Amino acid sequence: MKKENLTPAQRLIVALDVNSVEEAARWVKTLTPMGVTHFKVGLGLFTQTGPAAVEEVHKNGGQVFLDLKFHDIPATAARAAAAAVRLGVWMMNLHIQGGSAMMRRALAAVREEADRTRRKPPMLIGVTVLTSMAEKDLADLGLRKTLKDQVLYLAKLAQSIGLNGIVASAKEATTIRWACGEEFLIVTPGIRPTTGDKAANFLSGAKASSADDQQRTATPREALKAGADYLVVGRPILEASDPILVVQAILKDLE
Ligand code: C5P
Repeated sequence: MKKENLTPAQRLIVALDVNSVEEAARWVKTLTPMGVTHFKVGLGLFTQTGPAAVEEVHKNGGQVFLDLKFHDIPATAARAAAAAVRLGVWMMNLHIQGGSAMMRRALAAVREEADRTRRKPPMLIGVTVLTSMAEKDLADLGLRKTLKDQVLYLAKLAQSIGLNGIVASAKEATTIRWACGEEFLIVTPGIRPTTGDKAANFLSGAKASSADDQQRTATPREALKAGADYLVVGRPILEASDPILVVQAILKDLE
């Protein structure tokens, strides 16, 4: 499907940041009847369960964004990327800061393994700067560019290698969309719904109590308006007193 035709539910990627296959399965079974098809399996769940979590999502008709953010020498990243292709994931990512050679080798591995196993190649996207980082964290790492410039620089680098898109916050999405064009995928975490209903607003409280580590946040509608194609949402749904209500509010906000 062309990305401009995606429905609100298809734009949502629910982060399965839980600790077991059973818990992940419960979320998938709860949310698929609402039209949600994309689920993110990240470092915590994958380290706990291995491929079983991915298989569970597939068994229930969902598609997986494997969020393992590869960052290693080119040969190792390529090996991991090929293994992810064999898992049949829909989308996967790596850190752009792993370098051009790593991105090139991983992309080649994705294409070759998909070809060899006769699968559709998963989308390979690059992480620019984590949405949990702020300007001062870049300086702390010895990086001299402003956050916006660094994100844009990395996005263009990823595009020049041939990656399908990037992960960035909604705060930089407009600039990236302008610089990288319509086809380039923008996936934004750090989504914080402020919809007026109590359940969805759990996060304003979380933010105030600094329980929330995300720094560059936006509401679903803000992210979409800024040019995001897919929105990654975890705790606002997983930790809500009424998750269904929160998902409904997010989907409404995206209409
Ligand atoms: O709970 P929350 O909505 O903040 O979850 C966001 C998810 O997106 C987490 O699983 C986090 O690991 C992931 N992520 C992110 N920033 C990135 C890439 C992935 O927050 N740059």
